[in-house]
Amino acid sequence: MTLAIQPVRPEPATAPRRLTILGSTGSVGCSTIDLIERQPEAFEIEALTANSSVRELAEQARRLRPNLAVIADETCYGELKEALAGTGVTAAAGAEALIEAAARPSDWVMAAIVGAAGLAPTLAAVRRGAAIALANKETLVCAGALMVAEIARHGATILPVDSEHNAIFQVLEPEQHEAVERIILTASGGPFRSHSREAMAEVTPAQAVAHPNWDMGAKISVDSATMMNKGLELIEAHHLFGLSEAQIEILVHPQSVIHSMVAYVDGSVLAQLGQPDMRTPIAYALAWPERMAAPVERLDLGAIGQLTFEAPDPVRFPALRLAREALRAGGGAPTVLNAANEVAVEEFLRGRTSFLSIADIVEHVLEAIPAKPLDCLEDVHQIDKEARALARRLTNGTADKG
Ligand SMILES: NC(=O)c1ccc[n+]([C@@H]2O[C@H](COP(=O)([O-])OP(=O)(O)OC[C@H]3O[C@@H](n4cnc5c(N)ncnc54)[C@H](OP(=O)(O)O)[C@@H]3O)[C@@H](O)[C@H]2O)c1
Repeated sequence: MTLAIQPVRPEPATAPRRLTILGSTGSVGCSTIDLIERQPEAFEIEALTANSSVRELAEQARRLRPNLAVIADETCYGELKEALAGTGVTAAAGAEALIEAAARPSDWVMAAIVGAAGLAPTLAAVRRGAAIALANKETLVCAGALMVAEIARHGATILPVDSEHNAIFQVLEPEQHEAVERIILTASGGPFRSHSREAMAEVTPAQAVAHPNWDMGAKISVDSATMMNKGLELIEAHHLFGLSEAQIEILVHPQSVIHSMVAYVDGSVLAQLGQPDMRTPIAYALAWPERMAAPVERLDLGAIGQLTFEAPDPVRFPALRLAREALRAGGGAPTVLNAANEVAVEEFLRGRTSFLSIADIVEHVLEAIPAKPLDCLEDVHQIDKEARALARRLTNGTADKG
């Protein structure tokens, strides 16, 4: 067993460090900016990017003065350019400009675009050997082995930002990697942890995005509610830490205080604890290999009183089983799982399909598309496209029935 992602320890940081934030207008992007703005002398911004939140992006750019601000949606270009006139910030738009933002020299890149849309820009940062704080788990799910190979080839450093993977990263000593027996990824269980299947059939998008512990973007909040998020994290952990599917356990822990654990062959279990606030893992990635202060509420275990645990229920949360099956099947199966899930979640958020059909659609698409090997990124794009098209047809089917 080898550690797939071996971070290259940098020379001691010289201030200010140059940063690029992909997905700066999202939940993770805004938390990153919150930390940066508390230590303005320590950081400079090379580039910021968003999809279509043009006003938010322009406002961030006016405050942080990056060299480049990119909006993916080309119809927003005029508005961005106008809003940044006279600021010295270059405005750009479109898919190529996103890649250009990631490819520009900077010391550190926050990969916080949601979904497979983050793959191309994240890869551009990998290919220049950057230090990448990886929040965008979908890139590792849809193109895991290829990404890991590119990371090794270009000597890029991956700093996991997902709180569970960041917890493992904090307590897994690379020198002791051979002695890791298994890791335990904790899951809050989401807003429907205690719901019956019947009750879940009725839930609305507004209920699904109201996570009990974490304040996150809409897509990941729905993924948490179906527990597909934990399935995606299982696949992410497999690639990040070079562990087999059987070595990755999922444990429901409703308080979200223990962010994950590493179990060693001598029976020791090491955990990282903290409040459910993404600014802790982001700060860890931002300051790595040092640490920086984060303005998060301090953990008061006496006040919390009890930490509880339960096994996940595979019947009420079939997404976990689907993710395990996809990881075992290998090849393009995780790509299919991710693409079908992205479409189903989007359609659910639009009110066009039900909560329970999200996992049903993913299962149907996985059954219909064989787990072909992924030899190159073109294969990823092809399978992703095929899975999305089928998921859309199936979703329209469920919408028609509804
Ligand atoms: N939020 C969390 O607490 C959390 C925790 C762990 C991991 N993550 C992971 O971090 C990633 C970001 O999550 P989030 O919750 O921050 O998402 P979010 O709030 O929805 O933000 C997503 C960001 O990506 C941009 N974006 C969306 N689609 C894009 C596209 N097609 N092309 C270019 N940019 C695009 C958005 O721009 P607009 O604002 O213009 O739409 C926004 O800046 C996800 O992969 C998620 O799984 C998040």
